[in-house]
Amino acid sequence: MFYVVLAAVALVVNAHHEHAQPTRAIAHLVGENIRGNITFTQQPDGKVHVEGSIVGLPPGHYGFHVHEKGDITGGCGSTGAHFNPEHKEHGHPGDENRHVGDLGNVEFDSNYSSRIDMVDSFLSIVGPHGILGRAVVLREKADDFGRTNHPDSRKTGNAGGRVACGVIGIL
Ligand SMILES: *[C@@H]1O[C@H](CO)[C@@H](O)[C@H](O)[C@H]1NC(C)=O
Ligand SMILES: *[C@@H]1O[C@H](CO)[C@@H](O)[C@H](O)[C@H]1NC(C)=O
Ligand SMILES: [Zn+2]
Repeated sequence: MFYVVLAAVALVVNAHHEHAQPTRAIAHLVGENIRGNITFTQQPDGKVHVEGSIVGLPPGHYGFHVHEKGDITGGCGSTGAHFNPEHKEHGHPGDENRHVGDLGNVEFDSNYSSRIDMVDSFLSIVGPHGILGRAVVLREKADDFGRTNHPDSRKTGNAGGRVACGVIGIL
């Protein structure tokens, strides 16, 4: 009897798993001479591990954000604004007052290559802060984290045009 109950529990747990929400996502970034892969993994502590690599830009820092839409029908320009479900101002990833999509900058080295490995406590894969079905966008300049007097600083970090992007899908 005990084993029958155990087997039944195992079946229920398995069935539950098959219908569980996705915990991993991936985006393939594409731009002119730019290619990259970024994975997003929901951690047990509620944070999201963002990991991957992008190649194709000269050494420097470049703004890197999650945008609200996964629409690339008109290129990176149709992905909307920074994902901002809490209607906050643009900021640094470590700020309380920031867009959920504000992941700061990625750094390219002398090999035109960038390694991304960060843990973010605002993002999630699904739910109100869910990034699944949205897009990641790379900018032509560094994000100033809303810290300058430029009129775009508190809106977008004044990071210039969109040079590469990718839709975030289930992994
Ligand atoms: C992205 O992934 C593809 C497929 O695995 C691989 O061929 C490519 O080299 C990767 N690109 C980067 C920049 O990591
Ligand atoms: C660039 O690539 C070369 C050859 O693979 C390597 O020796 C060097 O350490 C790389 N530079 C950086 C900054 O990673
Ligand atoms: Zn922002």
